[in-house]
Amino acid sequence: MTLRDAAIAVRENAHAPYSNFKVGAAIRAASGTVYVGCNVENVAYPEGTCAEAGAIAAMCAAGEYEIAEVYVIAASPSPVPPCGGCRQKLAEFGKSAVPVTLATTAGAELATSIGALLPGAFGAGHMEGS
Ligand code: THU
Repeated sequence: MTLRDAAIAVRENAHAPYSNFKVGAAIRAASGTVYVGCNVENVAYPEGTCAEAGAIAAMCAAGEYEIAEVYVIAASPSPVPPCGGCRQKLAEFGKSAVPVTLATTAGAELATSIGALLPGAFGAGHMEGS
């Protein structure tokens, strides 16, 4: 199964009763295993948890901490960019050059990278020597 197919499939499981905007994310980890996530909203925090954060959580829960590739899909007019918090999370677990594809269910794709999504990211290295 391709990352795109995995992201399309998990998007169907999104719980988005407040935004009615379903998002699917698939991450290939360094081992080659694919982890998926969908957005999950709740009444207290209607913005809920993003699909990317869900896929990252699944990866970590399986004991993996290195992202090799990312695919995100939604039924939006143009490929939806990850929110700021998700950009930071992606930067925490993936190198700058890691490819990220943002896609629409209609077939549009935007190829970018973790570094391009969050230039100058704050990282653990910035706390060295403090
Ligand atoms: N959302 C994601 O899951 N990923 C993105 O990249 C953009 C936004 C979700 C969060 C919320 O459930 C809904 O889309 C509307 O913001």
